Order: sequence, then C-alpha cells, then structure tokens
Amino acid sequence: MDQAKELRNLINNSQSINLKNNLNSRVITISSGKGGVGKSNFSVNLAIYLSSLNKRVLVIDADFGLANIEVLLGTRPQYTFYHMLKGEKNISEIIVDTKYGIKFISGGNGLKELSNVNSTEVKYFIEQFEYLDKIADIIIVDTGAGISPSVTNFIMASDENIIVTTPEPTSFTDAYTLIKVIKEQNKVINRINIVVNKADDKYEADRIFSKISHVCNKFLGITIENIGYIPSDIALIKAIKQQKPVILSFPDSEFSKAIKNIGNRIVNEEQNVKNEGIKNFMQKLTRIFNR
Ligand SMILES: Nc1ncnc2c1ncn2[C@@H]1O[C@H](COP(=O)(O)OP(=O)(O)OP(=O)(O)O)[C@@H](O)[C@H]1O
Ligand SMILES: [Mg+2]
Repeated sequence: MDQAKELRNLINNSQSINLKNNLNSRVITISSGKGGVGKSNFSVNLAIYLSSLNKRVLVIDADFGLANIEVLLGTRPQYTFYHMLKGEKNISEIIVDTKYGIKFISGGNGLKELSNVNSTEVKYFIEQFEYLDKIADIIIVDTGAGISPSVTNFIMASDENIIVTTPEPTSFTDAYTLIKVIKEQNKVINRINIVVNKADDKYEADRIFSKISHVCNKFLGITIENIGYIPSDIALIKAIKQQKPVILSFPDSEFSKAIKNIGNRIVNEEQNVKNEGIKNFMQKLTRIFNR
C-alpha cells in the first residue's frame, strides 16, 4: 500500500473510532403502549449487561411519578431533573452512582415541566447535557406507558427506540396505537425496534412481531425491527424479591440470556446508528414539548 493510501486509511479509521468512542452518547428510549409489560426490568438489566461489556451506561427514569427504576436499583436520589431545570443543581449533582456500575438520573417531575420553562431555564438545562455526552457511551431512557405526550415526545426526539410488548392482544394493539400516534404527529419516524416480553417461546414472539410489523407496513408505511424476545421467567420474580437485578443474581436464567442476546445485538449495531447525543436529544425534546 502506498503511503498516501495508508494515511488516508488511518485517518478514516481514527475518525470512525472517534465517533464511536464518542463525542456523543447513544440514546435509546424504552417505551410501551400498555403499562406493566416489563420496560423497567428490561431497562435496568440491559443497562447492567451493557456496562459489563465496558460501556459507560446511564439510565434516566422518565416515568413521572412512579419511581420504578429507583426501586430496582435500590437507590433514592435526593435531586432530580426538576432541580436542574430550576437551576438549583447542575447535572453532576443529580447523577447517582449505583452499586451495579451504572449511573442513574431520576426525571422526577422535571421532565413534565419542560413545557413550562422560560428561555433562560431551557438554555441552562440543555447546556448541562454536554457533560453527559462526555461521560456516557449509552443512555437508556425508560419512559412511561401510553400515548400521552410524556411518552410520544420522547420517542419523537430519540434516534433509537425500543417498544416493549407482551403477546397479550391488549398489549400489542396498544404498541401499534403508540406507533400510529407518533406517525400522525411526525412525518419522519426514527428507528423503532420491538421486544416481545413474557413470550412462551421464539415462535410466539415472532408471530406477535409479524402481526405488529404487518399492520405498521400496511397502514402506516413503516418498517419496524425485531430486536429479540424475552421469555416469561420465574427467575425474574425471584430476583425482584431478593432485590438484586436478575442479570447478576441469575446470570444463566432464560431472562438473562435473552437480555444478553439483545445487548450483544445493540452493541453490534453500534456502527450503523446515528449518534446525535443526549444534548441534541434534549434540545429536540424541549422543542417538541413547546411546539
Ligand atoms: N419476562 C418476564 N417474566 C416474568 N415476569 C416478568 C417478565 N417481565 C416482567 N415481568 C413482571 O412484570 C411486572 C412489570 O414489570 P415492569 O415494572 O418492568 O414493567 P413496566 O413496563 O416498567 O411497568 P410500568 O408501565 O408500570 O412502568 C413485574 O412485576 C415483573 O416482575
Ligand atoms: Mg416501569
């Protein structure tokens, strides 16, 4: 290879490494149409697994009012986004280090307030996120369930989404309704991945995915991705009772194996996703909340 070509290759490679190791965090939003389908357990265990792969992971609980993630992580943050939005705290003061190696921020009521803030507050709030882009490779945002703006706005702002459903008809029809509502509000729809949780087996999960995929294609003109499935597993219930994440207490359980498969897939797709970062995400989110 001639020297000029070697140099070009080196520059090209180092550019992609820079982007990957990144100037920006990869933001993945986890939501669902129906509640209680397993979002929070999925988010926490996925985050811990990704962290075991040497990713710097931060989880944001954006499910207002219900402090699901706090309970699963056994932590109670004193300050939330609300304090940052009001300018009382900076971002490093609202981050909690958990005993599982991942970092955590509680949205509290702060994110709901995003539609009621003045321009100085917005500016301060968004600037603060630059710090998160520096300290986290992957940010997992656990939203609430349903089709209210506090769910749909997050999906619209996010480059990457995972919608969790179970095989129950009410759950997968609600997942479809959620996608439909987003499509009605936004012409361009970013990547949507589906996880079928509490499935009997792969065949059932694939069948449910096909149903959602078919109607999304036919009625909305949207292609969705099947990112994996999770079986019903008593190990999860046992782990919750022991108050230790299942991926650590029962790493060989079916639930944990499924999380690992999905996590590996997410990491393998790293090169193919556009990482606009958390600052950009928050900027978009604030704009959507105020339009
Ligand atoms: N694969 C599974 N196998 C067995 N039980 C499960 C599985 N996934 C979730 N569960 C159970 O379902 C319940 C709801 O889970 P979780 O709190 O994670 O759902 P959620 O979608 O975050 O709920 P919410 O909408 O209230 O935030 C939990 O009690 C959990 O034990
Ligand atoms: Mg939850």
